[in-house]
Amino acid sequence: MTSKPSVLVTGASTGIGAAYAERFARRGHDLVLVARNTARLEALADRLRADTGATIDILSADLADTTQRVAIEARLRDDARIGILINNAGTSLGGTFIEQAIDDIDRLVALNTTALVHLAHAIAPRLAQAGEGAIVNIGSAVGLVPEFGMPVYGATKAFVLHLSQALSLQLASQGVYVQAVLPAATRTEIWGHAGVDVDTLSGVMEVDDLVDAALVGFDRREPVTIPPLHDVGQWEAFEAARQAMIPGFAQSRPADRYLATA
Ligand SMILES: NC(=O)c1ccc[n+]([C@@H]2O[C@H](COP(=O)([O-])OP(=O)(O)OC[C@H]3O[C@@H](n4cnc5c(N)ncnc54)[C@H](OP(=O)(O)O)[C@@H]3O)[C@@H](O)[C@H]2O)c1
Repeated sequence: MTSKPSVLVTGASTGIGAAYAERFARRGHDLVLVARNTARLEALADRLRADTGATIDILSADLADTTQRVAIEARLRDDARIGILINNAGTSLGGTFIEQAIDDIDRLVALNTTALVHLAHAIAPRLAQAGEGAIVNIGSAVGLVPEFGMPVYGATKAFVLHLSQALSLQLASQGVYVQAVLPAATRTEIWGHAGVDVDTLSGVMEVDDLVDAALVGFDRREPVTIPPLHDVGQWEAFEAARQAMIPGFAQSRPADRYLATA
């Protein structure tokens, strides 16, 4: 048995989640893989067992479905071997806000935000109690860019960033590391689900490069890792500008520009 914690990866059947699974197996961790497509999970698990000797469990579940999701929450709550959660499962939606069906929007929000926060909430108390562990939440650069025209998807990813930063502040003192990873366009099937041919895009990162870079941030215990951002000074300036506003929010009087003129 390995002394390294097991890693539960959601959305592990393909794309970014599958790459995380492979990297952690090669690092000597056992895995719990979650997604809907059992055949794909089994094929990945068979390959990684053969290549690395890791012990790998498969949990097939639709995380947008409350009944199926609670089984994953229970596993995170009860299995003390799991010390790292990779909250990766997510999807996108094509079309404009008006074109998108509200049922599809509900499923997007349920997967990208509700499931992510439920899974984090299931494992966080146990990790805090143990005084160690990590929660990695996969956000997106789109969460910083309303101009990209993906209003609900982008909002779910802004949620992921805020949640991760706030959890990082709350849980760090209890030994729990929380990382938000913000990929930009990465070559996976998600683009097809949104009706976009990824080959028509420029500046697309390969999955292996994205996950390797995200793990450099993980090993450095960065709270926010943005693999495609070359000039980290831009992020630091953005954060500094945001934090500079904080002391000014506590005001009993509205700003002068909002005072009604007679
Ligand atoms: N690729 C990009 O350009 C990009 C950029 C920024 C952020 N991201 C984020 O990165 C994460 C991974 O995306 P990806 O690009 O790797 O996408 P992907 O290739 O489409 O993979 C998504 C994964 O999530 C699983 N999944 C989807 N719906 C699910 C559900 N209802 N319940 C359980 N699992 C579900 C899929 O497996 P099953 O179909 O088997 O369930 C699959 O394993 C997402 O959170 C995405 O928003 C991606």
